[in-house]
Amino acid sequence: MPDSLLPVPAVLERIHPMVEDNHVFTFVPDLPFNVAPGQFYEVSLPGVGSFPVSTCHPVVNGRIESCIRRVGRVTDALYRMVPGARLGLRGAFGNGFDLELFAERDVLLIAGGLGMAPLRALLMALLVDEQRSGRIVLLYGSREPKALLFREELVELARMKRIELRFSVDFAADLQGPFSGVACRIGLVNELLDDLKFEPQQTVAAVCGPPALYGCILDELSATGIPENRILVTLERRMRCGIGECCHCVAGGRYICRDGPVFSLAELRLMPGAI
Ligand SMILES: Cc1cc2nc3c(=O)[nH]c(=O)nc-3n(C[C@H](O)[C@H](O)[C@H](O)COP(=O)(O)OP(=O)(O)OC[C@H]3O[C@@H](n4cnc5c(N)ncnc54)[C@H](O)[C@@H]3O)c2cc1C
Ligand code: FES
Repeated sequence: MPDSLLPVPAVLERIHPMVEDNHVFTFVPDLPFNVAPGQFYEVSLPGVGSFPVSTCHPVVNGRIESCIRRVGRVTDALYRMVPGARLGLRGAFGNGFDLELFAERDVLLIAGGLGMAPLRALLMALLVDEQRSGRIVLLYGSREPKALLFREELVELARMKRIELRFSVDFAADLQGPFSGVACRIGLVNELLDDLKFEPQQTVAAVCGPPALYGCILDELSATGIPENRILVTLERRMRCGIGECCHCVAGGRYICRDGPVFSLAELRLMPGAI
């Protein structure tokens, strides 16, 4: 049996409440276990079930950190656990982001809702390199100000000029207070692209969010002149095996679990129905 089919025993070390039903969970596996930004792994709760999830931070000191939304049976069972509980981790699966592609280039990150979680892992991996000269621009849209994940941390990174940050929300009573000087507009996240100045030939873009976001933003990014092999998207599908054996996740003729979940727009053009 491949190693990735055997859950590695782990302990739930910490639950960090962030936004209602979107908490950050820290797991410490008993054995070395690495998940790169953009890859995913399965959290297995004994006697309950398992679900795939990405990390929201690069693995540091063996700690696996994920922002997990409570949506159904298994994630609800996880929310009922307390630190010290035992569970299993299986993986890592998928390709993840090719960090080489981001080196020496300007980076445009576009997140919608929970899509901020995997993009935060990528962002933190890029920020480790203090010598980086390229810009990092983050456009992040959410329902309302209080639903913006990692908001204070992102605002602080913008204040320190490590990233350029713009928020969008569907509605807000106050467009000043919650954003501490960071630009925010009412509207959709793709509208934040409207007056953004950047060098498309120097830029790599990564987008993560609900499928509705992809419908408009991918063509808009392509129209700016960013090469389609440098417009990256992470796809989500119901997963089972995670290793290209069960065909559960096939879309557009590719295995999302094994060949993805990160695809370039150039690849997606050859995968009809994948979005
Ligand atoms: C590659 C990948 C990365 C993911 N990363 C994260 C993450 O970082 N944080 C996070 O909170 N969730 C993430 N998910 C989604 C997560 O796997 C589902 O929310 C989880 O499986 C729900 O399990 P459940 O038993 O609690 O819900 P269920 O009872 O199985 O389902 C509850 C609801 O969630 C929907 N749902 C279930 N699975 C998925 C899925 N794979 N994609 C979209 N909708 C789904 C169902 O249609 C249903 O409406 C990721 C999924 C994939 C495939
Ligand atoms: S989840 Fe089994 S083939 Fe992808």
